[in-house]
Amino acid sequence: MIVLGIETTCDETAFALVASGHQILSNVLYSQASIHKGGVHPERAAREHLSSILPLLDECLNKASLSLAAIDLIAVSYGPGLVGSIQIGLQTAKTLSVFLKKPFIAVNHLEAHLYASIMGKEPPLFPALGLLVSGGHTALVLLRSETEMSLLGTTADDALGESFDKVASLMGLPYPGGPHIEQLAKKGHPSLPFKAGQLSDDPFGFSFSGLKTQVRYAIEQQKGSFEDIASSFQRAAFTDLYQKSQKAYGQLQCRSLLFGGGVTQSDSLRSCFAPFDAPLYFAKKELCLDNGAMVAGYGFPLFKQNGPSPLSIRATPKIRWKRALS
Ligand code: KG4
Ligand code: ZN
Repeated sequence: MIVLGIETTCDETAFALVASGHQILSNVLYSQASIHKGGVHPERAAREHLSSILPLLDECLNKASLSLAAIDLIAVSYGPGLVGSIQIGLQTAKTLSVFLKKPFIAVNHLEAHLYASIMGKEPPLFPALGLLVSGGHTALVLLRSETEMSLLGTTADDALGESFDKVASLMGLPYPGGPHIEQLAKKGHPSLPFKAGQLSDDPFGFSFSGLKTQVRYAIEQQKGSFEDIASSFQRAAFTDLYQKSQKAYGQLQCRSLLFGGGVTQSDSLRSCFAPFDAPLYFAKKELCLDNGAMVAGYGFPLFKQNGPSPLSIRATPKIRWKRALS
């Protein structure tokens, strides 16, 4: 089954053609990163999606040497994200579905990020723990199967990717800041005693806004070089992810650990988790950031399990995951 995946939830317009959930036939992307100085402007993002979406669909088909007639299923992210941006992809998917008389499935963008880690691989052992670390979200997720995901904990304030972007901006570095902070951190020492927040009533919840404030004070008071501040910030953040993942993994008797989201592109994060006693699943680097392949890939098992989505489904900026523990 050939699935067309469409992704427009934030500032990337992306399409992919994926066979049976795993084999990528083409994967194309138009990134607006250079347009959005200092963060994404929602109105501008939606207009950029609108002008790039149809030429990009052509490019996706051409790269796979396929025509629209080859598509068996259309998958699209319906959230979470920016409502105006999501609507462009969702409306395109619905239109193609009606025009081609092919089923359509709406997928949760965050679940697709986690699915990217197992694409093209043998299935992991379940239950699995999912650690999602993206620009807009940080979450620990319990996976009973590749399509049954429920929430263990999420961030009470800033997402970690957003914190990387804000720390980079405090240092005058361009958006998106994560890769710049990672490079800076490699040249420094984690000598400053920064700590991520702990939530007394939510052991698997995250809080990074206090950490960002510690970084801001350190910069203002010139407590160390930018290299040492970046290294200390990154170490505090990744130690927190590691410790909470370890606690959840043991408590829920998980059998594998899946990573998803842009921050998991980081080599420093990957080496920090190397000692974790579990089979670790990282997505290929090009599938960590927003892309169409994860959407097309995840659409396949979801469609097999649930059938098509109704055309009445709406763009959903905030999707509430079912809680794993009540
Ligand atoms: O998953 P993603 O494309 O966006 C959302 O769906 O939200 O992730 C983008 C985020 C940005 O905040 C970016 O700074 C961060 O991923 N990121 C990194 C690295 N590469 C990208 N953060 C830390 N280290 C990196 N190497
Ligand atoms: Zn994303």
